[in-house]
Amino acid sequence: MDFRIKNIDFTQDFKQQPSGCFVLGVTESRTLSGTARAVDSATGGAIGRILESGDFKGELEQILLLHQVPGIAADRVLLVGFGRENECNGVRYRNTVLKAFEALHRTGAEDCAVFLPEIKTPDRTHHWQARQVVEAARYTGYRSDRLQSKKNSLKLKEVLIDIPDDQDPALFDAMMHQGIAIADGVEFARELGDLPGNVCTPTYLADRAKTLAKDRKSVTVKVLEKVDMEKLGMGALLAVARGSREPAKLITIEYKGGGENDKPVVLVGKGITFDSGGISLKPGAAMDEMKFDMCGAASVLGALHAAVALSLPINIVGIVPATENLPGGNAVKPGDIVTTLSGQTVEILNTDAEGRLILCDALTYAKRFDPEIVIDIATLTGACRIALGAHAAGLLSNHEPMVTELLRAGNGSIDRVWPLPLWEEYQDQLKSNFADIANIGGRYGGVITAACFLSRFADDYHWAHLDIAGVSAFSGKKKGATGRPVALLTQYLIDRSAA
Ligand code: BES
Ligand code: MN
Ligand code: ZN
Repeated sequence: MDFRIKNIDFTQDFKQQPSGCFVLGVTESRTLSGTARAVDSATGGAIGRILESGDFKGELEQILLLHQVPGIAADRVLLVGFGRENECNGVRYRNTVLKAFEALHRTGAEDCAVFLPEIKTPDRTHHWQARQVVEAARYTGYRSDRLQSKKNSLKLKEVLIDIPDDQDPALFDAMMHQGIAIADGVEFARELGDLPGNVCTPTYLADRAKTLAKDRKSVTVKVLEKVDMEKLGMGALLAVARGSREPAKLITIEYKGGGENDKPVVLVGKGITFDSGGISLKPGAAMDEMKFDMCGAASVLGALHAAVALSLPINIVGIVPATENLPGGNAVKPGDIVTTLSGQTVEILNTDAEGRLILCDALTYAKRFDPEIVIDIATLTGACRIALGAHAAGLLSNHEPMVTELLRAGNGSIDRVWPLPLWEEYQDQLKSNFADIANIGGRYGGVITAACFLSRFADDYHWAHLDIAGVSAFSGKKKGATGRPVALLTQYLIDRSAA
């Protein structure tokens, strides 16, 4: 899908502007936006009459597709409702634009002209709106048909985005490129997430990571094998891998966009390519969805993909511990005690709390990159899904400014996070009678005790943990990976690059 930005001149080329579809915004006062008004007069009032008929009121997310509208060179017109004037905030804007493109992808239109970055959103700029248009067009165009015989080839090939008269085209151009980079990163992550466990193995993840380095001087990828991890002493990660016949990998991707001595941002992504629970076996219902347990890893790769595309002037390191979590004669058992890379011993009371076991060794490994900050991203707890649902990822951090920055980046990208406390009182729940620490903290506050466990390995740097168990994939009819939080991470990296 190609994107172009243009200020379409109503008096000149507007009537002759051929297009598969004009996408026009309408607010509930039934007043037409600037462009919609111009289209209305070109059509001899056809659009105004539809509003008068009461068929379309411009309510939030309301969509109406019109064919053969007279007087214009567009095959279709898609009316998009943004609700009451001045009440359309960024979140409503984004959701509405997603609805619009869902509808547009169902038509046969091969190109379209979008006149939406002109809606009033008090909390957002028009160029922000243009980025959302790009992201939404791509997001709704994604189909997880890689393993289906019949491909759903996308009809929409070109999206022309109109920019309002008084706006700086350079800003829109920059935002369009951000939108494309984010969309590519999101798609990269969704593809990986949607692939089944028998295809998307730790080895496959390592191979996909290597493609990021291909033909690029600024990116290097290194993959540690079991023997390397044994030498280092990654006892926790290797304990999880014991039940699986797929070899575990520790993947490191280094992107050097900044100065030689700039400390990197380190992103650590949970890469459990299938989580059966291990000996603490999960119930059968919806167990297939545990192929999504590598979505943290996928988001790290997706964000790096975007950062590289935007040539961000910072250094970034991605670390992905990758393994399956399966039962077997050689699998780790409840009660087993392992020694982590940090030297701390862990009593594994539940083999299904495996994410923290692979992450703790990766967090210790992160130290060798002398990080400015570390963020780990993990489908870590069902408890987070219960607490925050599908709208916000859980955010826990040992450094208050990171909370503020990540909240802001989440808001900016509408890939939102919400903070939970990491108070030391919770640490008591991790006491073990036999080892330094237990890997589970009991029934209450599961998101927090999981983060408390990780915090024991993140003492030496500023660190934040994102629990994405609720946001990384949909279940049910819309089952599939969301690509979250690639947009958030990319926004955060963009913000840091600007600072
Ligand atoms: N991968 C799961 C968490 C998860 C659950 C992600 C649902 C997405 C949807 C994780 O490894 C896990 O099993 N966590 C356990 C922890 C418990 C044993 C302390 C959980 O949440 O039940
Ligand atoms: Mn688990
Ligand atoms: Zn898991």
